[in-house]
Amino acid sequence: MKIPKISIYGTPHVFDGNLTTSILNILLRNDFPIQTICGGRAECGKDLIRVRSGQRFLSARKDRENRILKELADRGHPSGPDVRLACQCYVHGDVEIEVFNLAGKRKDGPAATPGP
Ligand code: FES
Repeated sequence: MKIPKISIYGTPHVFDGNLTTSILNILLRNDFPIQTICGGRAECGKDLIRVRSGQRFLSARKDRENRILKELADRGHPSGPDVRLACQCYVHGDVEIEVFNLAGKRKDGPAATPGP
């Protein structure tokens, strides 16, 4: 069985994904500097991502994620069907994501943008 790949838009980073570890935790385990305050409990919204391709390979949104995403959208943060919380996403196919909030600067990554 093919291992799903998580590509980070604007960077050369590609990580192996799976259905038991959230995108947030996969990125953190690979030292990719995605922001989080709540540690993956769908509370802080710092781990906002845009799914640029492969949206059908992500786990479905649940009520908790929808609530946080609506709160963020109401405050002017990115919104839409392709915007997710990395901590609530599990992959079963290849995806490309854009990470909005980086925890510090990277030489090879996109510039950090103001986040929630
Ligand atoms: S890590 Fe805080 S909402 Fe996902």
